[in-house]
Amino acid sequence: MPLPTGISSLGLAVPSLALPVESLAALRGVDPAKYTVGLGCETIALCAPGESAVTLATTAARRALARWGGDPSRIGLLAVGTESAPDMSRPMSAFVAEALGLSGAMRSYEVKHACYGGTVALRQALEWRLSGAARGRAALVVASDVALYRLEDGGEPTQGAGAVAFVVDTPDVALVDVGTASYAEPAFDFHRPVGHAFPVVDGKLSLDCYVRAATRCFEAYARDPDAPFAVEAARYACFHVPFPKMVRKAVPSALAALGWDEARIEAFFTRAVEPTLALPRRIGNAYTASTWFSVASVLPSLAPAEPMLAFSYGSGFGSELLALLAGPMASDGGALAELEADFAARRVVSGAEYLELRRAHVGVV
Ligand code: HMG
Repeated sequence: MPLPTGISSLGLAVPSLALPVESLAALRGVDPAKYTVGLGCETIALCAPGESAVTLATTAARRALARWGGDPSRIGLLAVGTESAPDMSRPMSAFVAEALGLSGAMRSYEVKHACYGGTVALRQALEWRLSGAARGRAALVVASDVALYRLEDGGEPTQGAGAVAFVVDTPDVALVDVGTASYAEPAFDFHRPVGHAFPVVDGKLSLDCYVRAATRCFEAYARDPDAPFAVEAARYACFHVPFPKMVRKAVPSALAALGWDEARIEAFFTRAVEPTLALPRRIGNAYTASTWFSVASVLPSLAPAEPMLAFSYGSGFGSELLALLAGPMASDGGALAELEADFAARRVVSGAEYLELRRAHVGVV
């Protein structure tokens, strides 16, 4: 008999520095409206020296564990989804486990699939519990990344960083439906070959792949006779947000494929999608954590059992549309309050300081 399974607690973390995209536009001699209107971006979350995908993951995980309040010896699986790992062999989960003092009878590993890796880790943890293999134990899952492009790359205004951690146990915050709509296709839309500090991006191809992935996933979901609720019933539809305009481009395509007319699509976008973009605008692209920042930002406004959708995309490419129902503790909002405190404490850097950080901290430009 599968145990009731879902997200039991959340922990969120962003780094301590922020660069407004207008400052980057001034640095690059670009009309700021290209970044703010053309791409829909606002702020890039940036790491200070000493901060990294590991420290962000550790902070988010510590917060999720504290909010869960269970005995850490009940954690039987620790999975980290990331594309910012410090080592090609040692999993990022080992760095997190070390920082948190977690060891013992547990499976600990890293998942890589570009921005989709965190969602894969989350699904594996859910399915591990549902299969019975967990023997009632809980999982700690973290999605953490620092997104940086080569200086002056077209992707530079879409940079960002952050981590989302989940304890997967009883569905106190959200129940994740066991069914799921996924779509994958091999592509070189965005990739980072071994030894490269920054991704190699085919911008136009990446937009096409994202739109096709969203369209295929929504079609598959709408066709699924066991889908727990209709697309239109979703209170919110959250997306992977490489930059907000990407979502603005993908949603009409995905919903038109379901036979929706323009007015119906616009009404759905305004009601169910636009509110989910506010938090990503303040962070930038946090790769694996992106979809889950959106989800975390709207969960507190849901009543228990209210439905929402979450679309995850990772270049290469893989994608998945998940159905969630808010749990009894969704309205708690503690994770978001912690994030707001991080935002209040973060320091805004100038374009010149950004360049210094890229030279001194990242080491490579
Ligand atoms: P670009 O080529 O420099 O920009 O970079 P553009 O020329 O296409 O302009 C962008 C938009 O700004 C356009 O809007 C312009 O018209 C508009 P659109 O026509 O497309 O609606 N614009 C202006 N608007 C107002 N005032 C102005 C102005 N000037 C221009 N003055 C690109 C764009 C997305 C290619 C670049 O940012 C990039 O390479 N980003 C990285 C790749 C990316 O994010 N792809 C998204 C899908 S792939 C994905 O999501 C996976 C990912 O997260 C990685 C992973 O999975 O690990 C990236």
